[in-house]
Order: sequence, then C-alpha cells, then structure tokens
Amino acid sequence: MKRVGILTSGGDAPGMNACIRAAVRTSLANDVEILGIRRGYAGLIQGETMPMERKTVANIIQQGGTILGTARSEEFKTPEGRTLAIRNLQKEGLEGLILIGGDGTFRGGTLLSQECGVQVVGIPGTIDNDVYGTDYTIGFDTAVNCALKAIDRIRDTALSHDRLFFVEVMGRHTGFIALESGISGGAEELIIPEAPVTVASLCSRLERNFERGKKSAIVVVAESEQPGDSFRIAREVKEKTGIESRVCVLGHIQRGGSPTARDRVLATKLGMAAVQALLRGKGGCMIGEVNWQIAHTPLRDTWEKGKQPLSILMEMIKILSD
Ligand code: F6P
Repeated sequence: MKRVGILTSGGDAPGMNACIRAAVRTSLANDVEILGIRRGYAGLIQGETMPMERKTVANIIQQGGTILGTARSEEFKTPEGRTLAIRNLQKEGLEGLILIGGDGTFRGGTLLSQECGVQVVGIPGTIDNDVYGTDYTIGFDTAVNCALKAIDRIRDTALSHDRLFFVEVMGRHTGFIALESGISGGAEELIIPEAPVTVASLCSRLERNFERGKKSAIVVVAESEQPGDSFRIAREVKEKTGIESRVCVLGHIQRGGSPTARDRVLATKLGMAAVQALLRGKGGCMIGEVNWQIAHTPLRDTWEKGKQPLSILMEMIKILSD
C-alpha cells in the first residue's frame, strides 16, 4: 500500500484531530503517502483534498473539532454521488481510505467498500458512543465530562433554590451520554430511549422523593428526535404534580472543546491501528477497542448490530438515587 486517504464525517467529536495526527504520522513512518479529504463524503464527491505532512498535524492533538472539516452528505447516499466519489478515489490513486465517524459514516463506508476496489477502514469517532464493535468511541469521554461539569454547576443552583431541574444532553437515539453523566453527576432520575419511563411514573417517583424531604432534584434527559423535548416533560410534570422546574438544554457545547486524555489515547491507538490494518491489506472493517484490545469488526456489523448501554449502569441510578 503506497497511498491512502483520510476523512472525517458526520458530527465532529473531540479527539478526531488526535486520531488524524496518529494516522498521518504512522503512514509517513511506513513510507505511505496520505491525502486529507475535506468535508467528509461531500468533499470526496467534490474532489476537495489537502496534502498531509508531519507538520500539517503538528499542535493539533489538543484541539477539538476536525482540521479536515466534516459534513453530513445526502448526495453520498445516492449511487450517482458514490460514483463521483469513487471516480475521485481512483483519480487520486488511493489504495486505502480511513473513515473517522459514526454509524452513518460506516453505512456509507460499507457501500463504498462493496462498490470500489479501495480498502476501507473505519475508526469510531462520535460523542454518542452508539457504535457496535468498540467499548468507547472517540469524543464520548470529553462529551460526558462536559455534561458532568454542567450538571455539577446546575446542582449548585438547584440546591440553593430548592428546585427541580431537567438537564438535556445529546445522544440522538441513544442514552450513553445521559447514563454516564447521570451516574457521575448523581442524577435523581434518568430518561433515556433504552429504558423508557412514562411521565406518570416519573411524577410518582419525584413526588415520593419530595415527600421524603428532598428539596431539589436533577433529571438527566437524553435528547430525542427533536432536541428540546424536556420542555414538554417539565410542563407535564408541573401539570400533574404542581412541581416547578427549570430546563437546561446543553446542546452543541458537548461536541466542542479540548479532548480528555482518555479520548486522546484512544484516538491515537485507533489511528495507528487503522494504518497497520491497511498495511496488512485488511479492509472492510472498523478498528475499535474492546476490553482494552484492538478489535476488527466488519463495517456492516457496526451499524447493523445495535449497541446497548450496560444494564447494570441503569440499575445503579435507580438504587443510588432513592
Ligand atoms: O454527532 C452526534 C450528535 O451530536 C448527536 O448527539 C446529535 O443528535 C446530533 O449529532 C446533532 O447533529 P447536528 O449537529 O447535525 O444537528
């Protein structure tokens, strides 16, 4: 393998830059040329590239976001879009392609690896942690710590005012961020898609807690299809119980910022391992980390097989917040 490409796609995640740095430096150390593709699949379709040298990736390990830029491309989902992308891969003489992203990126990557002769290797990079084949995704730890800092601050004001708060965190269809920030922030209640609760049962738990003398509480809510659903929940709780509350939607601040040490180490390990996989001629897979070991998972499995949060963590909240 003499020439490979690298792109970041989908939502950016802290640690993507550390991963790009590791992949670029591992490639160059093995005499493999590496080309950056800007703006994910959208840039691949348009042929937007940038040369990657040692100095291109200097001083980026601590930066959030992605120096390559990213996008969610609707065009790549069409056969016509992928034909243009494949043409550009061939024009650039790329024998391998590294994709850093989440399940949407790997859906596209699965098709790409079936439709062209280029070896495709994925690296899980998303704050959501919802990718099968890895214990953690790059960016998750930073996002959880960001949410945790916010929860800690909100607890100060919740305690001072004897108030109920709803803190909505990101995670789209999954509750990984809510679960870990909720456990570490001592949340009283958790609302996540994997363990749906009715407003009625939430109300009775909150009322029981308030009757027992609790004066404030924090409910961590995973965003659903539309961010902001926690406003509806708070309104319904007020209607049913009379309990006043405040809502705080954390939003995109969870996606930015300097990656934690844990995210930087994971990103570095996976970036190196992806290049090593390509050097061994291994494609059509995602490089993850399972039980501290590098794991290769077929790209299709990463988005077809669902990943569930550990049920033991969900039980913990119920017991500890009572
Ligand atoms: O990348 C993951 C994520 O941050 C989800 O948690 C969230 O639902 C979604 O992206 C938001 O995407 P966008 O920035 O495109 O609105």
